[in-house]
Amino acid sequence: MADQMYSIIVTVNGQSISADVSTELRLLDFLRYELDLTGAKEVCGEGECGACTVVLNGKTVNSCLILAVEVDGAEITTIEGLSNNGLLNEMQNAFVDHHSVQCGYCIPGMVLTGEQIIKDHKNPSRETIKEELAGNICRCTGYQKIVDAIEFAADKR
Ligand code: FES
Ligand code: FES
Repeated sequence: MADQMYSIIVTVNGQSISADVSTELRLLDFLRYELDLTGAKEVCGEGECGACTVVLNGKTVNSCLILAVEVDGAEITTIEGLSNNGLLNEMQNAFVDHHSVQCGYCIPGMVLTGEQIIKDHKNPSRETIKEELAGNICRCTGYQKIVDAIEFAADKR
């Protein structure tokens, strides 16, 4: 049986987008393959790694677990939405300056989670940052430099 299609209107990185999507299409695939926003990555595809993190109505979510039809009317920010005219924001610069990136696969999710941490906690301790990063897995860096970057961005803001 052919997929059922559904019309959605969604704001992505400040831009209103109308689209007809399959009721089976995941948000992650909608962003990557229909909008060409490839910052969110697929690793586990089952909500374990955080590589597919995006912000949905102000909260980080795993876009591999959400259907595109579920975001009808919502606001989404992806990693591409953080920079301004090609200039990185403070959190992104903190990751660069602290050498927090190796292969880079987990980094979009780490940066967006870092943003969420400093939004939710005024002066997050190192312990709090580590706890809040529990849903984001990195296989390269050993995490310390990622925590350093978020701690620095939190202090700065
Ligand atoms: S790809 Fe979505 S949580 Fe791992
Ligand atoms: S930098 Fe490679 S998985 Fe995190």
